[in-house]
Amino acid sequence: MLPDPHSASGGHGPASHGRHAAGIPASEPTIPTQEGTEDMTPDQISTEGVVTSQGGVAETPDGLLTVGKTMPDGEAMLAVRNLKKVYHTDGGDIEAVRNLTFDLPQGQLACLVGPSGSGKTTLLKCISGLLAPTAGEVTLHGKKVTGPPKSMAVVFQEYGRSLFPWMRVRDNVELPLKNQGVDKARRDELVDNALEAVGLAHVPKSYPWQLSGGMQQRVAIARAVAYQPEVLLMDEPFAAVDAQTRADLEDLVRSVWKQLGVSVLFVTHDIDESVYLGERVIILSSSPTVIQQDVLIDLPDERDQLETRSSQRFSELRHHVYEQIQLAKKGFRPEETLASGQTGGHGRRRPSAAHSGSVEAGSADIGHGDV
Ligand SMILES: Nc1ncnc2c1ncn2[C@@H]1O[C@H](COP(=O)(O)OP(=O)(O)OP(=O)(O)O)[C@@H](O)[C@H]1O
Ligand SMILES: [Mg+2]
Repeated sequence: MLPDPHSASGGHGPASHGRHAAGIPASEPTIPTQEGTEDMTPDQISTEGVVTSQGGVAETPDGLLTVGKTMPDGEAMLAVRNLKKVYHTDGGDIEAVRNLTFDLPQGQLACLVGPSGSGKTTLLKCISGLLAPTAGEVTLHGKKVTGPPKSMAVVFQEYGRSLFPWMRVRDNVELPLKNQGVDKARRDELVDNALEAVGLAHVPKSYPWQLSGGMQQRVAIARAVAYQPEVLLMDEPFAAVDAQTRADLEDLVRSVWKQLGVSVLFVTHDIDESVYLGERVIILSSSPTVIQQDVLIDLPDERDQLETRSSQRFSELRHHVYEQIQLAKKGFRPEETLASGQTGGHGRRRPSAAHSGSVEAGSADIGHGDV
């Protein structure tokens, strides 16, 4: 794991593992919620091209896809099984994550979206071994994660807190490699390549505070890239940068993902971003979070900010994810719907009249897609 400039131990409260090299602290961004959306029921969700939720089976145009425990035992690179996290506080217990199960195959780029406070950061911290789950487990290549694995890197939102301000750009990027005992020649090569990949080859000697916000976040990404992780976890890494920079960084993540063949779990509150970036969007319910839906993003592999975002399929997928998030925010819970015998977020459902057939590109009722 990458180092934490603010903690010698990497601890994140009493429940943190923090036994290996420290991780970067998570930020807890405040995300505005949208009010006043039209009433929707589970029956009003279109399901074309959609894989569905935890433990269910969905019929899609491509056939039947089982979700939740999606791969045979031992085949998933990263497996999350019945993960539960309860925080014990003075004010009582807070169940943030409930019996959550999914697999991340090698080389996949999956986005996680869910309402603010649903448990995304908690989930990512448990996956990265920074936080001990209350029940269930995370395995990486079949081995239980009990602390930050060496082959994982995490990029959090607050670049200002994740870089060492007294170290130059190059040294910040190099540090985890030094900690890993990588020899100097190889370190130089990896750092050069990473800075080149994020377009910062011209500022190796600058200090982070001499760079713009977007550039600092690129340093954080370069550090993760140079480290050559097998799994890259990103928790709302672009929430604090402007829209133009954000678009550039999205493309950067996709190009780095392709170059490295790394598996990526990317948390975002931006619905458009999740659809643009991901091969798959995992929609989380409100707290305590479970997987509400697992959506296959069947957009062409080559993505382009203009072309892709203006395509009809992008609009349909965005519309679908947006509807699901609105349901999550209203407290819709797939397991309760199942218990009461409805189909809820599971299985194939009849598209609503409003959404049968194709959904118009750029559906005007959606507005900006922040959760
Ligand atoms: N250290 C903690 N101690 C107690 N409760 C916590 C702690 N961290 C998070 N929580 C609670 O767990 C729930 C999930 O929080 P979490 O930060 O994981 O949500 P999130 O989906 O990442 O939110 P956001 O979208 O705002 O980043 C919330 O109810 C939160 O109050
Ligand atoms: Mg969070």
